[in-house]
Amino acid sequence: MFNLIIFGPPGSGKGTQSVKVAEKYGLKHISTGDILRCEVKAESELGNKVKDIMTTGELVPDELLFQILISVLENNKGVKGFVFDGFPRTLAQALELNKRLKAENSEVVKAISLEVEDEEVVDRLLKRAEIEGRKDDNKKTISNRLNVYKKQTSPLLNFYDERGRLCPVHGEGSIDEVFADICKAVG
Ligand code: AP5
Repeated sequence: MFNLIIFGPPGSGKGTQSVKVAEKYGLKHISTGDILRCEVKAESELGNKVKDIMTTGELVPDELLFQILISVLENNKGVKGFVFDGFPRTLAQALELNKRLKAENSEVVKAISLEVEDEEVVDRLLKRAEIEGRKDDNKKTISNRLNVYKKQTSPLLNFYDERGRLCPVHGEGSIDEVFADICKAVG
């Protein structure tokens, strides 16, 4: 399997670019944020557990993400590979992903890190708030999401760098320009 991770702070373009990458390379796009938002909307048991956490911009507990990962892998047997968008976000999640992929004789091939300045992501998310009204797109929660990214998720960049998997990509510029740079990094 050809598995990619798209990292980056909130609003860096992970979702936008993952859709394009998945289409170009014939991969299955997995956004844990989208999966969780669907559960919240459906008012499922999982959705009710995570609703308040997501509204504050904190991370959902790892154990719940492990359950999601297991069901994603079980329900997508035979795919060419995955584009993971917003997952992993903690060291425990990265280790679990490695373990589960290894069990399928697979691994993470590249971890693309979209680099975007704080001011730019805040601008993008406040613009999106006017159009889509996502509950976590407000100044206070955006600021917390950025802090959570820096404290809990950005250390993973080292984890993938040490394993020779990290590809930093400048995430500012047009969507097509960023996509072209990602494609160069994927090779
Ligand atoms: P998640 O949905 O993953 O949110 P996020 O990381 O905050 O990222 P966003 O979806 O806001 O931004 P993005 O980087 O995907 O950018 P996008 O392409 O949308 O997670 C939400 C919550 O779920 C978390 O806070 C947490 O609570 C929970 N969660 C999810 N996964 C978890 C996990 N693994 N562990 C624990 N908890 C988890 O673009 C943003 C905007 O910018 C759009 O309007 C877009 O059109 C625009 N844009 C994109 N590219 C450009 C560009 N190049 N130029 C100008 N505008 C652009």
